[in-house]
Amino acid sequence: MSIYLNNSKIFPMQRLFPGKPAGLAITINLLFYVFHGIINFMISIVKGTKDILDAEQWQRIEQKALEIFSKYGYREIRTPVFEYTELFSRGVGDTTDIVNKEMYTFEINKHSLTLRPEGTAGVVRSYIENGMSRLSPPVKLWYKGPMFRYERPQAGRQRQFHQVGAELFGVKEAAADAEVILLAVNYLKSLGLNDLEVELNSLGCPDCRENYKKAIKTVLKQELKNLCADCQSRYEKNPLRLLDCKVDGAIFAKAEIQKVIQSDFICGECAAHFSEVKSYLDGFAVKYRRNKQLVRGLDYYNRTVFEIKSDSLGSQNAVCGGGRYDGLVGNLGGADAPAVGWAMGMERLNSLLAPLEPIKSDAYVISNSAADAFRLAEELRIQGLSVEIDLSGKKFTKQLEKASKAANFALIIGEDEMKAGTVSVKNLCTGVQTAVKRKDARWQILLKK
Ligand code: HAM
Repeated sequence: MSIYLNNSKIFPMQRLFPGKPAGLAITINLLFYVFHGIINFMISIVKGTKDILDAEQWQRIEQKALEIFSKYGYREIRTPVFEYTELFSRGVGDTTDIVNKEMYTFEINKHSLTLRPEGTAGVVRSYIENGMSRLSPPVKLWYKGPMFRYERPQAGRQRQFHQVGAELFGVKEAAADAEVILLAVNYLKSLGLNDLEVELNSLGCPDCRENYKKAIKTVLKQELKNLCADCQSRYEKNPLRLLDCKVDGAIFAKAEIQKVIQSDFICGECAAHFSEVKSYLDGFAVKYRRNKQLVRGLDYYNRTVFEIKSDSLGSQNAVCGGGRYDGLVGNLGGADAPAVGWAMGMERLNSLLAPLEPIKSDAYVISNSAADAFRLAEELRIQGLSVEIDLSGKKFTKQLEKASKAANFALIIGEDEMKAGTVSVKNLCTGVQTAVKRKDARWQILLKK
């Protein structure tokens, strides 16, 4: 006990009360910590948000997006993170959970604004506002950035999360749906995710969907009282959304209800569109599974909808979701234009990838002269190499220790090197060391691993 009491780092108040009995000293010190804690309490991160500390992996995800999207002719678009609330209530749909329960909405100067819960509505607004319908179709746009939904946080579900997404405008043909799905699959493959399954469905058009909605309502009427509160409120407003309820699965599994769900309700044109999408996907050997209960949580979809799922994501298993939304541009005030797209959750994507090894610098300059190390490092940085130096006057051996963790090569400028105008180049992987004349060294070649 006395060892601790004499340690003024742990018990800072001890200095003020030398020789006091241990119990009293501990109490005084604890009071110090409580009081200190109240004044200088730490401000923690907001629930449902996360700091991104593995930036290299995120940069890789973003670079691959740029690389793959460019191959398919997509251009990046950056829209604001907040928009007028009406954009989402009209766009995403005011019967959806997103609009009803999950939006971060605030009022400024009598304007109701909302932090975007998803990217599509903002991209559509920009497409209309910037006259992109006058461009020759297809207009292909991709985006990445933070989205905000006030959901109950859990693994794979945050209140601020990030999406990377792609939207294609101006083409109603099934080839566009297929290319958009292929883009998602190939993007995932480029990150080494080869075996994710695509779930596919067709919601038909607003006309054929009406009959389906009626049939669903009729068969569920008897069960209405047994359904969860969400399903009960959706029954009238948005009966299709009942189908992907996570609570009432057992009810929906009943044979007579499944018979309706599995029935082919879509009209001839929608069915032909859907089989064309599937035959394109077959042609490119994209594995997919028809899931007639896949209805998606946003109101703007018609015809093709899809999700890409992974079992290793747990209950929040969709890494990507999307589909066709031919009515949205018109609904948001533009001239009617067919459209199809998807978005992926970047946190979920990241959690499917193996962590990256921390990236090492090309070189670490070790010297007793900080100014000299600084000079050589700057020279090399100008030549395009990544170089670190010690900035806090550490001893030579400590610098070498740090170099072996942080860099591929150590560039040593000791007393001898200083006199001879040389630098010792040590390969930190093999241990091989050679001396080079500093003024004629070809660093780009020397520091190749
Ligand atoms: P979504 O299905 O709502 O679709 O979101 C797409 C993806 O974002 C999900 O599959 C999931 O990976 C991720 N995500 C959604 N919510 C969260 C959350 N709270 N935390 C972490 N990740 C989440 C859309 O947003 C549509 N705008 C997709 C689209 C684009 N449809 C057509 N074009």
